[in-house]
Amino acid sequence: MNPIIKNMTQHVSVRDFKDETLSQETKNELLLAAQSGSTSNFVQAFSIIEITDKTLRNELADITVSSPHVKKADTFYVFVADLHRQATILEKHHQSLDSLKNMESLFVSTIDTTIAAENMAIAAESMGLGICFVGSIRNNIQQVADLLQLPELTVPLFGMTIGVPGIKNAPKPRMPKKNYVSKNAYDADSFNDLSEYDTTIKEYYANRETRKQDATWSDKNLDFFKEIHRPDVAEFVKNQGFTLE
Ligand SMILES: Cc1cc2nc3c(=O)[nH]c(=O)nc-3n(C[C@H](O)[C@H](O)[C@H](O)COP(=O)(O)O)c2cc1C
Repeated sequence: MNPIIKNMTQHVSVRDFKDETLSQETKNELLLAAQSGSTSNFVQAFSIIEITDKTLRNELADITVSSPHVKKADTFYVFVADLHRQATILEKHHQSLDSLKNMESLFVSTIDTTIAAENMAIAAESMGLGICFVGSIRNNIQQVADLLQLPELTVPLFGMTIGVPGIKNAPKPRMPKKNYVSKNAYDADSFNDLSEYDTTIKEYYANRETRKQDATWSDKNLDFFKEIHRPDVAEFVKNQGFTLE
């Protein structure tokens, strides 16, 4: 296994950071890595906002509720799915914005943004830094958009904390190959045969260092999906100008 893949298999979300500052050079490399990924039709439909203002950082951390590391991490970026640039070009040339507003374009911008973020995550981890995605900014997506003064056709998807890791958990075991890879067609029988993985995760939770618990992976999903999360996101997306057609 080459060192890049080895690093990827060691990924673990880090929520405890040392009081150390990332240099601007390091940040520039992370941003370069983020923008170097593939991008649908070269649209580069994302923006990255670094949150350096302490008050703003605390306001965003309060929205997340569950992610106090947003306050403590040296660096916090918000990743924005962004078709506003394209809107500006089209408007300048009196062209309809309909093609930017549909579901496909929303997919394109969220996919581009996610690729950029994961590229940054891999780059940061290759430098020995720790990262954690912070989707819980969507607990109040409208407030985040207001705080960051986001224009139409933009969606704040998630944040990312980055810093020098303090406490680091062991990597969480992922599903065996039979649960996520098939050939030529979707293999529901194999993908849903989760008994082996449920046992693996039950053992993992029982034996890990912190926050031990008695649960299988199926239990965790039952619990998570017992309610509808963030129903206001759909309305927000429409208010940002997307028609979702
Ligand atoms: C899009 C996305 C959003 C996430 N949001 C949060 C979050 O708001 N707070 C948090 O502590 N972790 C968050 N995470 C981290 C996941 O909880 C974590 O990746 C998952 O439990 C697997 O653990 P691991 O990354 O340590 O392997 C998020 C991950 C992703 C991909």
